[in-house]
Amino acid sequence: MVARISPVMLTQAQRYQIIRKYAMKHILEIKDLQELARRRVPKMFYEYANSGSWTETTYRANEEDFKKIKLRQRVAVDMTNRSLESTMLGQTVAMPVAVAPTGLTGMQHGDGEMLAAKACEEFGIPFTLSTMSICSIEDVASVTTKPFWFQLYVMKDREFIGNLIDRANNAGCSALVLTLDLQILAQRHADHRNDLSAPPKLGLWNLLDMASRPRWCLSMLKTRRREFRNIVGHVKGVDDMSSLAQWTADQFDPKLSWDDIEWIRKRFDGPLILKGILDTQDAIMAAKTGADAIIVSNHGGRQLDGAPSSIEVLPEIVEAVGDKIEIHFDGGIRSGQDVLKALCLGAKGTYIGRPMLYGLGAMGQKGVTLALEIIAKELDMTMALCGEREVVNLDRTNLYHGHKTGR
Ligand code: GLV
Repeated sequence: MVARISPVMLTQAQRYQIIRKYAMKHILEIKDLQELARRRVPKMFYEYANSGSWTETTYRANEEDFKKIKLRQRVAVDMTNRSLESTMLGQTVAMPVAVAPTGLTGMQHGDGEMLAAKACEEFGIPFTLSTMSICSIEDVASVTTKPFWFQLYVMKDREFIGNLIDRANNAGCSALVLTLDLQILAQRHADHRNDLSAPPKLGLWNLLDMASRPRWCLSMLKTRRREFRNIVGHVKGVDDMSSLAQWTADQFDPKLSWDDIEWIRKRFDGPLILKGILDTQDAIMAAKTGADAIIVSNHGGRQLDGAPSSIEVLPEIVEAVGDKIEIHFDGGIRSGQDVLKALCLGAKGTYIGRPMLYGLGAMGQKGVTLALEIIAKELDMTMALCGEREVVNLDRTNLYHGHKTGR
């Protein structure tokens, strides 16, 4: 006789496990993680991640322009023994994808930056910690054994910036990502409407919203890390900086110029990456600074709305400086296919921001790992169907007509 298991015979924990297993089985693409994150993360933080500036035209173009690029299908090619391994700045990476610096990551899930860094370390790709993170450089260093990367915003208080670079050096960070496209913060309507702050203000609406996200509440109750820990306690006279908009308006340096790059480069003991290059003239200037790489980026469509998508400008930047400096790419990547397209158009490495945040908001460290696995699987299968076995061999010849049409 076959024993029948009725749901009433199961304990709450067993039921929970089955639901989780079922949910995991049906997470097939980044969109699934996004949907789960939308349900699990308070609206204020989900929308902070999931928005662009003003009309969000550039934000949407980052994704839409990827769809216009067609792949070249090849057949009867040996597809065995494929490899996604590559290098970024001479560092071996399991696939040419790093996690991008994203602000307030520790608000998508308690201890978010620490969990994401651990997932990246296990996977074998670089994790980049944002200056505007919730967990500090030291927090992330305390749970990782391999070096991570650190992203720097330049503020008016140069002594604080110098100390921040020294803290990254002391934590053994193996690359510094200097962001150049956010001297002032563009307006993202959602953040104003939601009165974004970290920690969130405990008004009635926020309390109701948070109460409907028990997993998130639990993860936040388990940690004491709920404010910008790279900054609070490290800047003289600042003990409340919960508003990102207020802090950037008061502290970020609108006078940042190419001349500042020299002292920053000298102060950091490792390679320097310049992030936010979207113009060939700027790419030429960047290549002259002695930096080691640039990231072709429009800040995920969060800064200059109306600017072209990152993927649209990548080919002209590669043509202008591809032989002078290593070129990385971010903006709009939602699949391994997008990674492949950026690589074919000349990027040596790529970054994912939102896919990591969706994974984290959906299921913490496991969700980040899942996001990386989804991207890797899509990249690997697409590469095979394009008739390639080594990710390092991808180039324009893997795109339909070398992606020359329409340009
Ligand atoms: C920066 O950290 C942002 O919010 O885009």
